[in-house]
Amino acid sequence: MDISEQDFVTRVMRHLFRARGIDLSGYSQSFVLRSMKKRLGRSGAADYSSYLSLLTHSEVETNELLGALSINVTEFFRDKGAFEGFSSQVIRPLLASKIREGGVLRIWSAGCATGQETYTLAICVAEEIKKLQCISAPVVGIQGTDISSKAVAKAKAGVYTKTEMKGLNEKYLNHYFEKNGDRYEVVQPLRKGVRFAVENLLDPPSGSYYDAIVCRNVMIYFTRTMHDVVTMHLFKALRSGGYLMLGRTETLMGTPRASFEVVDLENRILRKK
Ligand SMILES: C[S@@+](CC[C@H](N)C(=O)[O-])C[C@H]1O[C@@H](n2cnc3c(N)ncnc32)[C@H](O)[C@@H]1O
Repeated sequence: MDISEQDFVTRVMRHLFRARGIDLSGYSQSFVLRSMKKRLGRSGAADYSSYLSLLTHSEVETNELLGALSINVTEFFRDKGAFEGFSSQVIRPLLASKIREGGVLRIWSAGCATGQETYTLAICVAEEIKKLQCISAPVVGIQGTDISSKAVAKAKAGVYTKTEMKGLNEKYLNHYFEKNGDRYEVVQPLRKGVRFAVENLLDPPSGSYYDAIVCRNVMIYFTRTMHDVVTMHLFKALRSGGYLMLGRTETLMGTPRASFEVVDLENRILRKK
């Protein structure tokens, strides 16, 4: 006899936690179940029990399921247009104001996975600084955080395979990376000012007074209650007048919503009033 749907979900989640330290308890259950069923169908397993047995004995299937859940899925310049928008509408004016008024430009890449998003931001800032041709550029601090210690360790290493370099054009690849065998390493000047840390967005953030926060493709996995908690944390971590960029499919919910004005709807760029 097969196990119940609820039992199936619970046991798969327990496996992912034990095997990979991924806690899906706060994620939308319907999303989690849909992803599990999708993998069950593709794997050829006859029912919940046989899929569970396959999953617990197979690293490959565990990876496939995590892929279906889009956990840690990321790439450089994910949604190219969004980062173009972020460069011209956020980084450029922020750099100009730091040059005028002084101070460090502080950006938080929240839920940064393996670091591609954080380094993308560092590239965007470096490119904007080049255009300014100023004598002394503002000091920049970019903080990347993620709940997954494995992802953060990879982000800190800053070493990527050819496949992981997807999204980067030749110019940036040659300028900001060094080829070492079949790997690509982030060059030292780009790492300067970039820091990574393990941090759960459900906990009060360790940093505050950020000029901009990029939190993309993270919220979609949260239940409504958790979404509200995270939104409140992002809101508090942002200085007044600071910018927030979400993922293309994401919308801001919860109490702080009214305290933001839309800067660019398509690219989900908001500004704290
Ligand atoms: C799909 S990736 C998005 C990565 C990147 N922001 C992007 O858009 O390319 C989602 C990331 O959110 C992280 N994440 C999930 N829940 C989290 C939480 N509670 N706190 C911090 N990070 C979390 C996951 O570990 C994963 O690396």
